[in-house]
Amino acid sequence: MTSIDREFIDSLPKAELHLHIEGTLEPELKLELARRNGVEIGQSTVEEVRATYAFTDLTSFLSVYYPAMEVLVTEQDFHDLAIAYLRRAAADGVVRAEIFFDPQAHTSRGVPFSTVIDGLWSAVQEAPALGVDAALIMCFLRDHSADSARETLEASLPYRDRIVGVGLDSDERGNPPEKFADVFAAAKEAGYRLTMHCDIDQEQSIANIATVLHSIGVERIDHGTNILEDPALVAEAKQHGIGFTCCPLSNSFVTEEMKSREIATLLRDGLKVSIASDDPAYFGGYVGDNIAALAEAQQLSRDEVVQLARNSLEISWADDTRIQEWLRRLENAASAR
Ligand code: ADE
Ligand code: ZN
Repeated sequence: MTSIDREFIDSLPKAELHLHIEGTLEPELKLELARRNGVEIGQSTVEEVRATYAFTDLTSFLSVYYPAMEVLVTEQDFHDLAIAYLRRAAADGVVRAEIFFDPQAHTSRGVPFSTVIDGLWSAVQEAPALGVDAALIMCFLRDHSADSARETLEASLPYRDRIVGVGLDSDERGNPPEKFADVFAAAKEAGYRLTMHCDIDQEQSIANIATVLHSIGVERIDHGTNILEDPALVAEAKQHGIGFTCCPLSNSFVTEEMKSREIATLLRDGLKVSIASDDPAYFGGYVGDNIAALAEAQQLSRDEVVQLARNSLEISWADDTRIQEWLRRLENAASAR
């Protein structure tokens, strides 16, 4: 048994850098929003909603995930979703939350971009009162066209100051990173920071990881543990301080295991590995649960758990002065016990 108690994990200031806000839709809130908006969802109890949250891989997860979003209609809905997440994150010691959102999952069903961003932004502005510095990362859906991503990028530009970076998510199969090379180049030109999902055990995982590093020029990779298949790429990612945002509980839903060995190997090799919850309403836990599960599975030492928190802060896209302040708080918390 690991000697790391949950209180210790929660006491460490940390950044959560891989969190899809639409993936925080807990059954209770889904039912409330369905009632509020008069949306017929075919479920009327928490148990019934929870029973729909069942899948075996990324594709089957996404086929549950997108239809569930139909209850998100108004600015208030997006605000309430984000505030509920921020409260939960604060309880786990999150001081910085970089929140993914998928505009195309909403604009494609008639919800205006402005409704989504205004709702989320009002929650971001309230986050400091909860002890969290929050930021938004706009993700393009990789199973939509590059033209659609380009239109989404253009729609975001009036809100440039509310969005720190762009990412790429949804179904990786048949949708490699190079499909979005031009859009990401334009996003970089507009001042956005870059990250991309390289999901676990994809048909072309290692080729896609090479592309995001060499052709796209990302600063972080979301998931990305398949990089271990190519030691030269591992060395390169280490040399360039590429951040990894790994999600053990999510991995255990979309593949057969948490990939805890791979995550711990990268951490122990000195790569900038951080832990996050991905879609916590669907994958059974928030960031503290994810760190606890990894610590247990790989018998992480307390220093290694502190290193995960340190990495998360160092690879965050917050202002450097804030990062330095959190790192000082982290060292105090780590030595307080
Ligand atoms: N969208 C939400 N969660 C995702 C994941 N884990 N991978 C790809 N797209 C996602
Ligand atoms: Zn994700």
